[in-house]
Amino acid sequence: MKTLKEINIKTNTPYKILIGENLLQYSGEYVKKLTCAKKVLIVTDDIVHNLYAHVVSKSLRDAGFKVFYFIFNHGEQSKNLKNVEKVYSSLIENEFTRQDLIIALGGGVSGDLAGFAAATYMRGIDYIQIPTTLLSQIDSSIGGKTGVNLMQGKNLVGAFFQPRLVLVDIATLNTLSDEIISDGMAEAIKYALIKSPSLFYKIKNSELKDIIFELVVECIKIKKEIIQKDEKELGKRKLLNFGHTLGHAIENFYNYSRYSHGQAVAIGMASIVKSCEKLLLTKKGTYCELISVLEKYNLPYEIDCNIDDLVSISKTDKKASDQCLDIILIESIGKSYVKRIHKDDFKKYIGG
Ligand code: GLY
Repeated sequence: MKTLKEINIKTNTPYKILIGENLLQYSGEYVKKLTCAKKVLIVTDDIVHNLYAHVVSKSLRDAGFKVFYFIFNHGEQSKNLKNVEKVYSSLIENEFTRQDLIIALGGGVSGDLAGFAAATYMRGIDYIQIPTTLLSQIDSSIGGKTGVNLMQGKNLVGAFFQPRLVLVDIATLNTLSDEIISDGMAEAIKYALIKSPSLFYKIKNSELKDIIFELVVECIKIKKEIIQKDEKELGKRKLLNFGHTLGHAIENFYNYSRYSHGQAVAIGMASIVKSCEKLLLTKKGTYCELISVLEKYNLPYEIDCNIDDLVSISKTDKKASDQCLDIILIESIGKSYVKRIHKDDFKKYIGG
């Protein structure tokens, strides 16, 4: 193995993130160090199952675990309560106890689904995240947000429940299409915009293949700093939602089929930066810089549906209270803050 980086997350229940190349084949050894579980349920989608399940399950079996699978159809539409129920059934049929373990293998959907099932099965059993997409490696596998979508909106049912370990094998990024890499790059750009001008210019001026390891590590470090200070998203963690209120509304409007999460967030970030430049809340020139990076990764940045529809969906956003909505603005690249606005004013911040 070339490099192995360890990052320790000091949340209420602390855990380690291991980042390296070709870690999957050692997953059994890492898991064995943490648990006295006898059984492991791997929650994964059909595509990831074909790619990586054999390596992970071989390593787990060699380490003495009995391995079971829950395989769902890939895609955001699978992140629903029906599948959570199916995970519970699989756990019960196979007589999983509170001492046993769930592993989320795959992208954000696997992580959210497996994590939520783990948070709630018998009031909580351990789970481990093995993220295999860029987006899940730098964002969704870390910080304990788990949950599923309802018809009315994204992630409306869920729990904060930290994993016992996150294994980030960057070799899995080699099998991803450019589109899935771009999806993750939207979140990397988000981290840069809210916290790190140096990361922004690294993304802008380098070839991804030359910086991929440091990019993953830097994004995880930014997330670590934020979630350690605000695990339950009462304040600072809201910064991680930059571009997400509009992004979630766009995903929901198109029934999770037209835009990926990263693409929707890219439109969300660009719309808010563009409007805030006009409102003199964001430094002039920021939008132009942002567009150049979004274009580099083939990410969209224009809203192509009715803004009023999006405003109406955003009213059910988790970040909304009775009358208000907390949105994230940037003063300049790397400088972000939370602004509480009246729900009806959201339109003016996204170009309406
Ligand atoms: N993805 C945003 C968060 O974990 O808070």
